[in-house]
Amino acid sequence: MNAFNNKTVLITGGTDGIGKELVLQFLQLGAKVITCGRSQQKILALESESPVGNLSVINADVSNEKDCERMVDHAITQFGSIDILINNAGISMRGLLEESGPALIPVIKKVMDINFNGSLYVTSYALKYLIQSKGTIVGISSIAGYRGLPGRSGYSASKFALQGWLEALKTELLDKGVHVMWISPGYTKSSIRNEALIKDGENQGESPLDESKLMKTDDCARLIIGAIKDKKRSLVMTFQGKQTVFLNKFFPRLTDKLVHGFFFKKGKLIK
Ligand SMILES: NC(=O)c1ccc[n+]([C@@H]2O[C@H](COP(=O)([O-])OP(=O)(O)OC[C@H]3O[C@@H](n4cnc5c(N)ncnc54)[C@H](OP(=O)(O)O)[C@@H]3O)[C@@H](O)[C@H]2O)c1
Repeated sequence: MNAFNNKTVLITGGTDGIGKELVLQFLQLGAKVITCGRSQQKILALESESPVGNLSVINADVSNEKDCERMVDHAITQFGSIDILINNAGISMRGLLEESGPALIPVIKKVMDINFNGSLYVTSYALKYLIQSKGTIVGISSIAGYRGLPGRSGYSASKFALQGWLEALKTELLDKGVHVMWISPGYTKSSIRNEALIKDGENQGESPLDESKLMKTDDCARLIIGAIKDKKRSLVMTFQGKQTVFLNKFFPRLTDKLVHGFFFKKGKLIK
């Protein structure tokens, strides 16, 4: 019998990208899934693709504390428990502070509000249920949670904050039977770069990467589910991701230069 049959999994931001694949794969494994997103169109698309009964999708913005409380209440009313919480909802950004100046402040605040505060809100309201179920709390971080990336300063800050906060929480909960872990995908094909915020709060539109060469969301979701099953402490994905984390740990000055070389050409941010 598989480990997730009949378990209740709350996944934030499950209407697109990695989150949507997690929703579909957990449903296939027999789990009961609650998820959320802001776009009604994406919610309807997910509902039409999924088997009815074991899925509940609500319109909620994780940067809104009341929405998060409502989502957790809804999960309990609908399914009676929460066994696994995956803090996945996230957005990205692109912009250099030197070029944009204070115009980048609202962008970085919004990224922090969704990527960090969103995880704080949902986890805070869900915690008593996760303690009851001796469940698992997962943070979907990034390589940018280990190594600051140029042009993504606010995104990197949000993922460093997420990992630091989860590590502290893990230690606080050590004798409560709750497993806390964080997972850092490498570059994965999704809309995150198209929707990334630029200085005036608009979406970037075109991705600066060749998306066809990136990890596929179904592979990414499979690795995440495997790591949850094995109760790993953390997971870093992709060869490039593992290499970056390793080099940054042992050779940080060299990595400054390598990362600069990857993102800039003739002084211009090209990725
Ligand atoms: N793709 C990558 O290369 C990559 C690499 C490393 C880490 N990650 C991380 O993986 C996670 C998922 O990224 P992805 O690439 O799958 O992104 P994505 O394709 O853009 O999907 C993001 C999902 O989150 C939802 N969402 C965004 N803001 C939300 C909010 N305020 N409240 C509720 N839901 C919200 C989106 O729906 P709505 O827009 O309708 O709200 C969508 O369902 C993120 O935390 C990201 O940082 C991604």
